[in-house]
Amino acid sequence: MKSRTHNNGELRLSDVGKNVTLIGWVSKKRNLGSLVFIDLRDRYGYTQILVKDDECIKNIKNEYIIKVDGIVSKRENPNHNLKTGEIEIIASKVELINSAKLPPFLIQDNTDALEETRLKYRYLDLRRPIMQKYLFLRSKICKSAREYLDNLDFIEVETPILTLSSPEGARDYLVPSRVKKGSFYALPQSPQLFKQLLMVAGLERYYQIARCFRDEDLRADRQPDFTQIDIETSFLDQDEIFEILEGLIKKIFKDTINYDVETPLRRIPYVEAIDKYGSDKPDTRFELYLVDLKELNKFGPEAFQKSESIKGICVKNIANSMSRKNLDNLNLIANKFNIKSYIALKYINNNLEGSFVKFFDEETKSLIIKKMNMQENDILFIANGSYKNVTSSLGALRSHFGKELKLIDESHHDLLWIVDFPLFQKDSETGAYSSEHHPFTRPRDCDLKYLDTDPLKVYGSCYDMVIDGYETLSGSLRIYDQKIQHRIFEILGLDEKQIKDKFGYFIDALQYGTPPHGGGAFGLDRLTMILSNTENIRDVIAFPKNLAATCPMTNAPMPVDQSQLDDLGIDIKNKG
Ligand code: AMO
Repeated sequence: MKSRTHNNGELRLSDVGKNVTLIGWVSKKRNLGSLVFIDLRDRYGYTQILVKDDECIKNIKNEYIIKVDGIVSKRENPNHNLKTGEIEIIASKVELINSAKLPPFLIQDNTDALEETRLKYRYLDLRRPIMQKYLFLRSKICKSAREYLDNLDFIEVETPILTLSSPEGARDYLVPSRVKKGSFYALPQSPQLFKQLLMVAGLERYYQIARCFRDEDLRADRQPDFTQIDIETSFLDQDEIFEILEGLIKKIFKDTINYDVETPLRRIPYVEAIDKYGSDKPDTRFELYLVDLKELNKFGPEAFQKSESIKGICVKNIANSMSRKNLDNLNLIANKFNIKSYIALKYINNNLEGSFVKFFDEETKSLIIKKMNMQENDILFIANGSYKNVTSSLGALRSHFGKELKLIDESHHDLLWIVDFPLFQKDSETGAYSSEHHPFTRPRDCDLKYLDTDPLKVYGSCYDMVIDGYETLSGSLRIYDQKIQHRIFEILGLDEKQIKDKFGYFIDALQYGTPPHGGGAFGLDRLTMILSNTENIRDVIAFPKNLAATCPMTNAPMPVDQSQLDDLGIDIKNKG
């Protein structure tokens, strides 16, 4: 005999009269005199059970597992919020399968439980239907991606977890070797070098749903271990790769949330994105553009006049509600980007107001009003300083107001490419170059001539796919010429020994007939987050780490036994 005849999301009016057996968790129990109603839950939904003989269930509590035999009947008061809301089961037998301790929070979608508690009892948190919805969606994304890529002849290959460092800009997680004491594996920050080697091997089209590990500062959209849908191809140019990646995202949106993505996606050069939105991952569903105000540098204090950049954004219709305190709070955003404060100018009663206005003559005031298209009750925020700080601080302010003033049309998703990133960035203090993407990105052919003279003028054949203001995919065409790869390592400050130790095997491989190749990687967690409409990456990962990169359920990371350390030949200096 079957352990159950139906699941808890299955029965409808058309089933009335059937004898059924259900099994599940007691989600709620309500006593109405001698009648008892139970909401029975499993991963498919809820079914209402009516028990007329309350004796047999008097000891049954929330989260106990029970098995119910009964007959499906029409409900007197249907619940239209439930798929099974038109029926109930009149129980003839209730069997206790397992009891449960009182859970630390109610298992329901709306919870006020602290996230730390939810993470500690994650297996209970994951019983909440909304959490299961996130995991099902994540699984659907993977299925959709596999179908699409399999159809296009991609081969799924696993690459090592215990490996050497693969630089993606974060610190490595290291694993000590017992056999080779004093030596360490690094967990992969991504499968970058292996997927390139698979191209050297001639596989031509590779993908992997790959675990990646990065020791970096955590944010709402970052985890130390996360997953990529990682893709690499040979012999294709950038347009052909875009077509594959766009086809993939189009199918994922359709299969998971039935949303039609229009392709080809818009392409915005990096330089334009920074200039106009102050970000290389702009949400373009609202305007609020950064406007250049360099002509103001004839006025104001000396430091202002000497600024490398002066830019502003004009926020509509909020000037009257902006108190001193509000402005001070906004300056905390500016401070994150080394800007002391924004210069705020309000347009009230056809007049520009604000302490900085005294520096401007009438003509300049008119120019500002016209250029910023200011109207009554608008407020202009100006930032001055280095171009980098000005654009990033105003970009962050733009995002803040986009959310705060609900300027974003949430019914619409915003997918676009950012293209042509600079290949390098230079540390203003040390003068050292680092890769904007990673060191394997191919310089644009037209910029190769600057590689030896002015590396900052070199742009890469690289691209990010931005969705709703999140960098969701990153990729590039790769260097397939051993000499150029070597030169890039040199510019990044690696000497011959370091190049040989860290990347010798890779540089070697490039000499054996490497095909032109390129690809990209979607952040699966970020993509799931976007498609699930949540802003917390931890919601879409079954067992995530908290912001301190620890797991409140297992308590990882933990100290290990002295004997294990002895095996590895490790002495701990400062115990954390
Ligand atoms: P990149 O480092 O940009 O590129 O990563 C690709 C995508 O992975 C996601 N991502 C993350 N998601 C969650 N937590 C993190 N800590 C995290 N870091 C990155 C983002 C990002 O766009 N090897 C290259 C790809 C390539 O060139 O093919 C790479 O890893 O969505």
